[in-house]
Amino acid sequence: MFNSNKVAVVTGANAGLGYQVALQLARSGVTVVMACRSMERASQAQSQLLAELPDASTQVMCLDLSEPESIRSFVGQFSERVGHLDLLINNAGIVGIPMTRNSIGHELQLETNYLGPFALTGLLLPFFRNSVPGRVVNVGSLAHRFAKFDLDDINWEAGGYGPMRAYARSKLALMSFTIELNRRLGDAGNAVVALGAHPGFASTEIGKGDTVIGPRTPLGRWFNGKMEPRVPTAAQAARPIVFAACDDTVRGGEYYGPGGWLEISGEPGNARVNALARDSELAKSLWTLSESLTGISYLTGN
Ligand SMILES: NC(=O)c1ccc[n+]([C@@H]2O[C@H](COP(=O)([O-])OP(=O)(O)OC[C@H]3O[C@@H](n4cnc5c(N)ncnc54)[C@H](OP(=O)(O)O)[C@@H]3O)[C@@H](O)[C@H]2O)c1
Repeated sequence: MFNSNKVAVVTGANAGLGYQVALQLARSGVTVVMACRSMERASQAQSQLLAELPDASTQVMCLDLSEPESIRSFVGQFSERVGHLDLLINNAGIVGIPMTRNSIGHELQLETNYLGPFALTGLLLPFFRNSVPGRVVNVGSLAHRFAKFDLDDINWEAGGYGPMRAYARSKLALMSFTIELNRRLGDAGNAVVALGAHPGFASTEIGKGDTVIGPRTPLGRWFNGKMEPRVPTAAQAARPIVFAACDDTVRGGEYYGPGGWLEISGEPGNARVNALARDSELAKSLWTLSESLTGISYLTGN
């Protein structure tokens, strides 16, 4: 197990699964950098965490994954204030929003759920300590299994955007990246491994503004009424992520999730991956495209 003297960065640590992951890591003695886009919400979450675990070692730092400048500024702060890393949990995410673009024209789910984590991972890799095998854990979703790629129009310029279609595709990209990252790290002789984990379903804030399944839509009202009481809590659903981060038996390039019926809940175990995420030619093309879209190149020459 990861424990004392280790440093973890958890993105989106102020709420939902990210908060629970931060709490569970802090409980095992890991120093947790809570990387959040709102310093107010981050400080509130830090206070809540310290009220639950007074001896926890935590820091809050500002990170908006949807804005490239914020990612660079976060890494600068991290370098000055912490300077080394053992565990990166790319957890922050958004789901099912109407078409929105960031300041440089990238579709927001693609940017937040995939391109931002791609850039952040590349910029943080030099901070992993070589002496300790580190891990990058990317938080995926069941939805990725139903997605298809369109690398000719990854940024949804040609139309056809759908809130859930874009979410699923962003998570498929993240899963493809996870497997390719692990392969490139291995080829480069880097001790860091990359793996994926998904929570199944959890009762969190995510999707509450969704125009398809959010609580204000007919489908959302049905879902909330019928399903919500059976949906796992954030603490339960965070377990596969913590498992991927800490368990000694996990392997780089693998994907973990709840091991029960349809991977919705249950003990952590191996999870099913969309075959497109295992297509190495597609993964290489996606990597090159991501370098070009983010302006951040790493682990090239593979
Ligand atoms: N809940 C589920 O059923 C479920 C299922 C499958 C996968 N997931 C995945 O699990 C992860 C966590 O989701 P959750 O359910 O815990 O959702 P949540 O309660 O909405 O928390 C999401 C976190 O991500 C942060 N975030 C959103 N956009 C960000 C940005 N641009 N920069 C930095 N942080 C940002 C949020 O910050 P703010 O508080 O400032 O908004 C919040 O801290 C996501 O990747 C999601 O796709 C969740």
